[in-house]
Amino acid sequence: MVVRTPARRRSSIRGSSVLLHAVMAVAGIVMVLFLLAHMYGNLKVFSGAAAFDDYAAHLRTLGEPILPHGGALWILRIVLLASVLVHVVAAFMLWHRMRAATTGRGGRRYATKKSPRGVQRTYASFTMRWGGLVIGLFVIYHLLHLTVNVIAPGGASDSPYQRMVGGFSIWWVTLSYLIALLALGLHLRHGVWSAFASLGANTGVRRRRHLNQLAYLITTVIILGFLLPPLAIQFGMVT
Ligand code: HEM
Repeated sequence: MVVRTPARRRSSIRGSSVLLHAVMAVAGIVMVLFLLAHMYGNLKVFSGAAAFDDYAAHLRTLGEPILPHGGALWILRIVLLASVLVHVVAAFMLWHRMRAATTGRGGRRYATKKSPRGVQRTYASFTMRWGGLVIGLFVIYHLLHLTVNVIAPGGASDSPYQRMVGGFSIWWVTLSYLIALLALGLHLRHGVWSAFASLGANTGVRRRRHLNQLAYLITTVIILGFLLPPLAIQFGMVT
């Protein structure tokens, strides 16, 4: 008869927190790759209306005739949605385990002299959980605004370029994107570092320094790239 000790249970695949962290990291990296491509694509707005709308149309004809119209875009959407779900479910399971292991005290369980309140800083847990929620709400708002065009503050249009320029000409639309990008920046800064650490890259002081530099670099490129179109439109440089 096989005796299941607690240690044995923890090391089973479903029960492994290490595996959950790794799965979460891989899903996060898929989303970071999407963000890099999306940010780069948005910069086409600086090439004018025709170039931007052409680019949006090409996204739908990608892979034809092997794939049907919009097929590649739907594959991307499914991969993205799966990554978001895996990332969120793994995060929730890890949070639940941490709460259970610390009898509800969570991230405040370590005493420290660094914080005036005498407990471990909750910066990372705060930005990751609440920041993640803000990003999730933003993505829903963003899809309703620029993809489905249900919310059309700058006027509904068939042209993705016009939707973008119309929207970001309004100060509060631009401001709402700036707030979301701040949350995304904080989430990415910690998340990129944490993802590579979860995959075993944090193996010494030098590596840790490089991982931190990489996290700052990726975050800066993504956030600056995303900031450029709304700010350029808001300040009348793109019309
Ligand atoms: C200021 C920054 C951003 C701008 C200007 C922007 C612009 C756009 C535009 C124009 C579309 C519609 C593309 C089309 O239908 O042809 C779109 C779609 C989308 N954006 Fe953004 N975006 C920004 C930031 C973000 C961020 C930060 C995320 C994720 C956290 C994101 C996620 C998405 C997703 C998931 C889609 C839907 C893709 C699809 O299924 O068609 N975007 N974005």
